[in-house]
Amino acid sequence: MAIIYSVTNQKGGVGKTTTCLCLGAAIAESGYKVLLVDFDPQAGLTVCLGLDPDSFSTTIYDSLLNCEQTPLKNVIINTKIQNLDLVPSNLDLAGAEGELIGEIGWDRNLKDALSLVKNDYDFIFIDCPPSLGVLTTNALICADTVIVPVQTEYLALRGLKQLGNIITKVRKKGNPDLKRRILRTMHNKRTLHSKEVVEELEKIFPDEIFKTIIKRTVKFADASLAGMPVIFYAKNSEAAESYRNLAKEVIEDAKKTIAERKRS
Ligand SMILES: Nc1ncnc2c1ncn2[C@@H]1O[C@H](COP(=O)(O)OP(=O)(O)O)[C@@H](O)[C@H]1O
Ligand SMILES: [Mg+2]
Repeated sequence: MAIIYSVTNQKGGVGKTTTCLCLGAAIAESGYKVLLVDFDPQAGLTVCLGLDPDSFSTTIYDSLLNCEQTPLKNVIINTKIQNLDLVPSNLDLAGAEGELIGEIGWDRNLKDALSLVKNDYDFIFIDCPPSLGVLTTNALICADTVIVPVQTEYLALRGLKQLGNIITKVRKKGNPDLKRRILRTMHNKRTLHSKEVVEELEKIFPDEIFKTIIKRTVKFADASLAGMPVIFYAKNSEAAESYRNLAKEVIEDAKKTIAERKRS
């Protein structure tokens, strides 16, 4: 049964989509079966894989609203990358917030949709939109672990408390075992304060922080233009290596989660 990771931060442009794509690709490269779920109406993940969001007759939106009518299996597509599948998204998903709110169990729709395919994968990564609404709550309710990418800049720390409050609520109201991991992204050694932020994050989240730090480089933008994850676009780059190192940490983390599942 897959371990589910929600990649979440209400701030846009912090590396959520890039992390889903590159981490998912690096884990797929190691031989695990990986499903990426584009859960953002802007469909950045779908685009970064070289696909046209408007070309799909069904997307995550259809399964989210009614997974009996449109099972997730029917929405999943194979990507060009071995072991890596995608649930595409498009702007339709923007309507889901309004349509789900008020429905009974509105926060569990994604969990229900994923439960039908969970046995087909080792890892599932959900790429959240840059907001803390209905969609993000659905992702947090079904995740084993939430990965929070944080830019190593001062202003980046500001939204973390609010996200922390939501995580606490989700733990209390339906997903008590939800774990959190912090990923430092877009690190620029030369920026004033960035070294301090790196250390500050270690102090605030000593047991929750990934050791791997993703540096800032144009390689990521180049790769997304090419419609490919950087680990294949620039195989031997430092950027590719950093996501491979992160993949090793996540695989270790997943092994612990599986051991905990067995014990409980
Ligand atoms: N480590 C990085 N260094 C430089 N640019 C990056 C890095 N990670 C992502 N980017 C670029 O920054 C932009 C925003 O990243 P993205 O992953 O889409 O963020 P989010 O999903 O949080 O909005 C994209 O153009 C992406 O290619
Ligand atoms: Mg994104």
